[in-house]
Amino acid sequence: MGFFITFSTTLQKNLQGSHSPLDPLCLIRVFLATMFSPQLQHKIDTLKARRTPVKLGAVSFDSPLLLAPMSAICHFPFRLLMEELGAGGTVSELISCHGINYGNEKTRQMLRIHPKEKNVGIQLFGEDPEAMAQAARVAEEFGPKFIDINMGCPVRKVVSKGGGSALLKDTQSLASFFKGMKEAIDVPLTIKIRTGWDSDSINAHEVVNIAEGEGVEFVAIHGRTRTQQYKGEANWDLLEEIAKEAPLPIIGNGDLHSAPLTQERMKKTQCQALMLGRGPLRDPFIFLTSYLDDPTQSPFTPEDFWEIICVYLELLREYSQMERTHLIQMRKMIVWFVAGFDGVSDFRGKLFQAKILGDVMKLTEDYLMTLNERNRGTKRVNLSQPFMMGGHG
Ligand SMILES: Cc1cc2nc3c(=O)[nH]c(=O)nc-3n(C[C@H](O)[C@H](O)[C@H](O)COP(=O)(O)O)c2cc1C
Repeated sequence: MGFFITFSTTLQKNLQGSHSPLDPLCLIRVFLATMFSPQLQHKIDTLKARRTPVKLGAVSFDSPLLLAPMSAICHFPFRLLMEELGAGGTVSELISCHGINYGNEKTRQMLRIHPKEKNVGIQLFGEDPEAMAQAARVAEEFGPKFIDINMGCPVRKVVSKGGGSALLKDTQSLASFFKGMKEAIDVPLTIKIRTGWDSDSINAHEVVNIAEGEGVEFVAIHGRTRTQQYKGEANWDLLEEIAKEAPLPIIGNGDLHSAPLTQERMKKTQCQALMLGRGPLRDPFIFLTSYLDDPTQSPFTPEDFWEIICVYLELLREYSQMERTHLIQMRKMIVWFVAGFDGVSDFRGKLFQAKILGDVMKLTEDYLMTLNERNRGTKRVNLSQPFMMGGHG
């Protein structure tokens, strides 16, 4: 509730200035029903109406376009924002089973789910089946729709202990691993994998079959091997082949960086759903713009970007009381969101010099509002440039 009462005066000012004037009571009513101004909400709802729900095993989603788990990004503020902006479902960042079992306060904070989140899963990582089962029981109490096992993390610190993508190397133990976790929880169990450890040991088919045998609901596959890390391209031919033959629903993932790419894949894929990680960072409306007749013509203006940035800040304030967290998170998220707008490199330089949140928000508001006057807000993201070439899956 705090969010509705403490919504930023900047946002209120922005809404009053750039949309039709709204009195505070009306605004509170609007925010209770929706998070956005009526003008933005109308655009969102129009595109949301084009989505079709999907059921992957026992898990239903509002659309087949899902937000991929991303560490230090997919906490509830970002997940909820993406769900409100059309993501059919979301997954938390990877959370350590040992951190949960030791009662680590920071880890428990990561498990929190916002009451408005509808379709969220919690992702756990670890190598020890008993510790994973015990942590899954705790995670379940936080109210996720499903519990997901991270079997794709390529990071040395994780794989050296046998977790993440190292789990793909020991397929003999997988059935009992899944069984133990399934027995521990009542919500569905899901997994997210890579195609294999390396190009000589591509074994996603085998892992999918083991998962099906143990009652896993669906498998999300990042179309790269562990050895590839984030290099090269996701192997969509292989993903399509696996999806075509798989005995359970497959979610394809990798390199769907823009709405046109996502729409094109949606039209031809054999996968039951698609997962987007880095794409939504540079186009936060991607879960909607992928449904446009012409996905290159986004109807979302710089004013709309400013509005969602303000909403994100309010959600962040609900998530954490730490001003420093707000500053760091806002700076990085704003820089990603505005990628490709006119004059963005100058703006980025100024933003990283700002040391207090008020300055970050003022600079962003000024930038986006003048952008609206100068340019209708066309974004030109250079998709051939490397972007975020590291992560935990
Ligand atoms: C910054 C970052 C953090 C990530 N963290 C996770 C994670 O916690 N769990 C996971 O399964 N995958 C994680 N991933 C992998 C993504 O979920 C996804 O599989 C990968 O980025 C490929 O999809 P994309 O091309 O749509 O980004 C992460 C990726 C990035 C870029």
